[in-house]
Amino acid sequence: MFKINDNYLKLPGSYLFSTIAKKVNEYQTANPEKDIIRLGIGDVTQPLAPSIIDALHGAVDEMAHAETFHGYAPDLGYEFLRNAIAKNDYTDRGADIEADEIFVSDGAKCDSGNIQEIFAQDNKIAVCDPVYPVYVDTNVMAGRTGTYDPKAETWSDVIYMPCTAENNFAPDFPDEVPDIIYLCFPNNPTGSTITKDQLQGWVDYANKNGAVIIYDAAYEAYISEDNVAHTIYECEGARTCAIELKSFSKNAGFTGVRLGYTVIPKDLKCGDVQLHSLWARRHGTKYNGAPYIVQKAGEAVYSEAGKAQLKEQVGYYMNNAKVIFEGLKDAGYTVSGGVNAPYIWLKTPDHMTSWEFFDHLLENANVVGTPGSGFGPSGEGYFRLTAFGSYENTVAAMERIKNM
Ligand code: MLT
Repeated sequence: MFKINDNYLKLPGSYLFSTIAKKVNEYQTANPEKDIIRLGIGDVTQPLAPSIIDALHGAVDEMAHAETFHGYAPDLGYEFLRNAIAKNDYTDRGADIEADEIFVSDGAKCDSGNIQEIFAQDNKIAVCDPVYPVYVDTNVMAGRTGTYDPKAETWSDVIYMPCTAENNFAPDFPDEVPDIIYLCFPNNPTGSTITKDQLQGWVDYANKNGAVIIYDAAYEAYISEDNVAHTIYECEGARTCAIELKSFSKNAGFTGVRLGYTVIPKDLKCGDVQLHSLWARRHGTKYNGAPYIVQKAGEAVYSEAGKAQLKEQVGYYMNNAKVIFEGLKDAGYTVSGGVNAPYIWLKTPDHMTSWEFFDHLLENANVVGTPGSGFGPSGEGYFRLTAFGSYENTVAAMERIKNM
């Protein structure tokens, strides 16, 4: 008789954004005349930049001819893309990363969920609280998190690092030393970030304690302040303790195209085993690579025209972030984030819980956001709005919130 992986049964509820989508669909079905503005999931709305569209068309045409047709991609991804990434995202920033330390994939969500597979089950993970739910849920599926306390909404074997207004939404070093530390800066969901010096502190901490940092830099393109690192490898010693995850979704609008990459420096070792070779083995065995067409589109992200067009696109979303930040402030809300990130984090008014405010906003303003408590217990009493809507919808949403 077969048995299931009953770790899945330990997961409370469904994936956060699936729960929200279900609730919004039910509301829309019951109220078909309502014009709902969706500022919940961080999904982009602007079309792909012209350089990316040109690259996609060109690559599609190549696939139509035997001489230029491409089948399976190389295990780590095409060299043209890995070279462009290594140069633009690392060498040009003074970070020492080689093209053969980059693994191209179909997105940072999959990589952030899958990376835990190369670690032993008895590693203890530490996460920021609130946190992008994928890090925790995938460790639950792997049986690494112990038992769930439904009242506290925490797992017994997870170290939570609260990120609240008191510590400026930046985690403190935990009392218990973790084996694996998940960090995401600029942060999802709080939209806050830490300085390069603070990040250096985490790198030093990890090296001192033999821990590994899984660093999610999906929102790097939104950094506007000079003292914030664009990659963890700007920090000294990061090559021996850090894995970095990057996405093309937020900087280039690839949420529906799918492309990302993971960096594992060859100096990152457990004893004499390189984590790079474990991930290479996994990649080779379980994955056949992002499509050639999509990797060509990824290469266009680094062309001069692509860079200029994407700078404009990121600027468009950051202008929305400003509209939300200032709109909410004018309406009397306590707000943070939105300066180095496309997320605005607000305190719910009148002591409403995060889910109460979700319903309140949906019913009274027909605006969808994300309840802070969905990201972890320290998110209770907070709410996230995304700047990834259209400008018109963002302005309209603020008007509605002000008039609520
Ligand atoms: C979010 O809304 O937190 C993100 O869109 C989720 C993701 O990137 O997978």
